[in-house]
Amino acid sequence: MTEQQSCVVDIETMPRGGPSASWLDRRMQTDVLEYIDRYDVPDRIKQVVISELDRQDWHEDNARTALALVADIDSPRILELGAGHGKLSAKILELHPTATVTITDLDPTSVATIAAHERATTRVMDATALDAAENSYDLVVFAMSFHHLPPAQAWRAIAEATRIGTKFLVIDLARLPTPMLPLIPALGLVIAAPGAFRKGPLTILPFLHDAIISMLRAYRPQALTALAAAADPAIRVEFLPVRPPLVRAVFSRP
Ligand SMILES: C[S@@+](CC[C@H](N)C(=O)[O-])C[C@H]1O[C@@H](n2cnc3c(N)ncnc32)[C@H](O)[C@@H]1O
Repeated sequence: MTEQQSCVVDIETMPRGGPSASWLDRRMQTDVLEYIDRYDVPDRIKQVVISELDRQDWHEDNARTALALVADIDSPRILELGAGHGKLSAKILELHPTATVTITDLDPTSVATIAAHERATTRVMDATALDAAENSYDLVVFAMSFHHLPPAQAWRAIAEATRIGTKFLVIDLARLPTPMLPLIPALGLVIAAPGAFRKGPLTILPFLHDAIISMLRAYRPQALTALAAAADPAIRVEFLPVRPPLVRAVFSRP
């Protein structure tokens, strides 16, 4: 077994809190899938969750973060992974007059809902097996989605995205401080309550379900660093300043 393979075996069982996560942190995580990741539930439920996420109003901020990373390139080539309904890419296209964007997601129904744009291409793509040549993109961005991947797949996404792109930006929920982890169900209720009053519980319950699972599956920065090392020890990780509850990591190869 090579050194990298043995690292991969360890990484598959690494807790979301990172290699040195505490006892409590290790217990407050789950392998339960979100509705978004299930193909045995009506697609309507998945689309409801993604539409509710789109109401969270983080796309413009995320688009500005992405564009800042390619500010020195006249017409940046950007690949978005896990784009859902493509609202982040739509913002990027709105904010940058010459950027071109390839907008992708694993879910074909979501990809079919993405609005057409003359500088955009849409495709079904798995973030862990990217169908593109080396250095095809100046930036690969994966927003609010990385926690969907278990460690065994997450390191592959880092390996793949840094193979085909100069920079790989991951924006995601940050894992809560350990003492707050047991409060996740209550936090989920607080997040979902306003929507439940507006739209009714049948719309908001799937969102609540996925919000709670997302918080339990979120990675700590130490875990992201370990995943990058498992992909290739040469990969650099830079954490950008951001307000909680988010983490922004930029992965790149020397
Ligand atoms: C929470 S949504 C985020 C949507 C959007 N990026 C945003 O910022 O709101 C997560 C998305 O990740 C996608 N996803 C999950 N696993 C994936 C994978 N292996 N490859 C690509 N996309 C994936 C899901 O289909 C879903 O659309």
